[in-house]
Amino acid sequence: MKFLVTPRREFAGTFKVPGDKSISHRAVMFAAIAEGESRIQGFLEGEDCLATLNAFAAMGVQSQRLDNGDVLVQGVGKHGLKAPADDLDIGNSGTSIRLLTGLLAGQAFASCLRGDHSLMTRPMRRVCDPLGLMGADVVTAESGTPPVEVRPVTQLQAIEYELPVASAQVKSSILLAGLYAQGETTVIEPKATRDHTERMLQAFGHPIQKQGNRISVSGGHSWQGRTLQVPADISSAAFFIVAACIAESGEVVLPNVGLNPTRTGVLDILLAMNADIEIRDQQLVDGEPVATIVARASQLQGIDVPTELVPSAIDEFPIICIAAACASGTTRITEAAELRVKESDRIAQVAKGLKTLGVAHEEFADGLSIVGGRIGGGCIDSGSDHRIAMAFTVASLAAQEPVEILDCANVATSFPNFVRLASDAGLSIDVCE
Ligand code: S3P
Repeated sequence: MKFLVTPRREFAGTFKVPGDKSISHRAVMFAAIAEGESRIQGFLEGEDCLATLNAFAAMGVQSQRLDNGDVLVQGVGKHGLKAPADDLDIGNSGTSIRLLTGLLAGQAFASCLRGDHSLMTRPMRRVCDPLGLMGADVVTAESGTPPVEVRPVTQLQAIEYELPVASAQVKSSILLAGLYAQGETTVIEPKATRDHTERMLQAFGHPIQKQGNRISVSGGHSWQGRTLQVPADISSAAFFIVAACIAESGEVVLPNVGLNPTRTGVLDILLAMNADIEIRDQQLVDGEPVATIVARASQLQGIDVPTELVPSAIDEFPIICIAAACASGTTRITEAAELRVKESDRIAQVAKGLKTLGVAHEEFADGLSIVGGRIGGGCIDSGSDHRIAMAFTVASLAAQEPVEILDCANVATSFPNFVRLASDAGLSIDVCE
């Protein structure tokens, strides 16, 4: 599937962007091992989260998607999952494979996790090594990538583990295994990463200790199903925020967006770039802060992105790079080497796209610098990466010529109605199968 995008200059409207991907995954996982029924409101019906739901269906967890978008999950309790008949295919979803590996490590049955071409290249030793220290029997391919075979062991043991990379997926994987381990499992983070696992465990009433950058859980607890509200995904909202900022005119209003402080790096970065962004109606819903975001056409300025903001903006760098291409002056992103092991090598993929559009830039091992200015047009390869595809679609608001983006089907992994909402806001996108 490719997008043919004709430049437009206005971007405006009020939009309900879909539910948060990270929170939707966790809601399914914790609901599946709760006792009794949970109702998930605002669930992201993107391919990644549906892959998680399907994985639990293969392990005997029944669920129902209602017309209003709610998902009912019939929890089977912490020890009620059943051995899947086949390998669990979780498509493009890094969050599913990392978190499920931790959860499955404590089960009394064998399982095997695999996914699409991109997922089969994602690093897994970062979770399998600490799980091995817990006594788990978890084996990757020789390259340290999926498939991941998880074999049952008698009992996991708690560990104290200092994460070598700031990764919420690795942290969560260890904490999930910790729910099945003997003793108290502690994870120490080098930099704060998204804490949805911790918040949701607490929302389900599971005790969790947090002292600075140390997070601890113990096994032996169970919890009841409940109703959970998933806020709109700030990572999806980011495309609309930057679109409004780089358009010549217009204002977008995005209600109910999750503003967890471990996710708001994109707002801090854009505000430092002089973006016209307003936050209204802040409130706390099921332990997660939410608010309405308003963004308007802005005169963006290049900045050196503060390195402490990298983990809290990690998924937003493709669209931040488009903001940088439209800013006056230079933007420098460093200490972001993790971008090379996402759904694609996002540093290389953004750099290639910027080259096509005639935007001056320099690529580093751990980031890139971008000189804002004129944006041309041309044919961009998304590398099957949803966020690269959406970022360059938004770039058309500042492009002089049409932008063609190849390999866009994976937009459905995180933002299934992106084309419709972006078109309603003013973009002109032809989808060619
Ligand atoms: C996620 C954590 C991040 C992020 C990913 C979702 C999560 O990955 O890039 O899209 O839900 O925990 P890392 O924690 O590996 O950086």
